[in-house]
Amino acid sequence: MGINLSGRNYLKLLDYTTEEIRYLLDLSKNFKDMKRAGVPHRYLEGKNIVLLFEKTSTRTRCSFEVAGRDLGMGVTYLDPGSSQMGKKESIPDTARVLGRMYDGIEYRGFSQELVETLAEYAGVPVWNGLTDEFHPTQMLADMLTIEEKLGRLKGVNFTYMGDARNNMGNSLMVVCAKLGLNFTACAPKELFPAEELVAKCREIAKENDCTITLTEDVKEGTTNADVIYTDIWVSMGEPDEVWESRIKMLKPYQVNAAAMANAKKDAIFMHCLPSFHDTKTTIGAEIAKKFGVTEMEVTDEVFESKQSVVFDEAENRMHTIKAVMYATLK
Ligand code: CP
Ligand code: NVA
Repeated sequence: MGINLSGRNYLKLLDYTTEEIRYLLDLSKNFKDMKRAGVPHRYLEGKNIVLLFEKTSTRTRCSFEVAGRDLGMGVTYLDPGSSQMGKKESIPDTARVLGRMYDGIEYRGFSQELVETLAEYAGVPVWNGLTDEFHPTQMLADMLTIEEKLGRLKGVNFTYMGDARNNMGNSLMVVCAKLGLNFTACAPKELFPAEELVAKCREIAKENDCTITLTEDVKEGTTNADVIYTDIWVSMGEPDEVWESRIKMLKPYQVNAAAMANAKKDAIFMHCLPSFHDTKTTIGAEIAKKFGVTEMEVTDEVFESKQSVVFDEAENRMHTIKAVMYATLK
């Protein structure tokens, strides 16, 4: 039977089957080919979408804006300061208002519960542009990039180093289990993903002939990896005070030349971005001054190396977000 995602929300990948995720990846490839060939695809002409951001963004916002316009839609962007949401109007009320005017709603914010509530009341598809728990649009871009670079997904050894219980660690573990990649979280125990989610992912992984491994041992975690992935050590919404302890905890899990050398020869390096690989950002410079650390989750050497595919990954955000909007709105 054909896959039909029309009218669906896109809140977390646990809600999607392997076949549905596969369908979105194939659709993304088609859109990427069309964009590259200059073939117009204004399939959703006349529709309008709204983008709600309670946290900052470069890639996600720009991907939704460009993809929306490429599909022929009108796009409204609302930042944290310019709507009534949360302060003067509840999420259910906001959802019911926006659902009357727009055909789809993107939401980036704090708890997963907020985006789930928005979806419950909106009456139109809601897309999760990142919450504290999950970042599902990033997952499609990451999987598309791996498939482009390595030619396959099934059986790929995927290692995530760093804060493995944040939105990225959680989402990557889910998508790997769904698509048959062997997922390893290489992190200190305190930052392992929640047991309940690990158990759920192990069940899914069993169905797809792959494994979920948690290890504190960097050597074990990186040996034979096809992909080494990391994310910033302190996520949006976390207080500045956690930097000091996080740096101490995660320094051994920095992706550096030694970690890459331990992986397979043709392994790739991935990062959702933004990244602290030098001191050319305000926070990067502050951290260097305060703690004497000039590179954090990844060294500049690895970030700038041939093995690094981070900008292909960033471009793929746009093609994959286009696929999600088209599939759910058509
Ligand atoms: N990777 C990602 O979501 O980037 P932004 O925070 O810039 O959207
Ligand atoms: N874990 C990061 C991801 C940024 C795309 C954050 O939530 O800030």
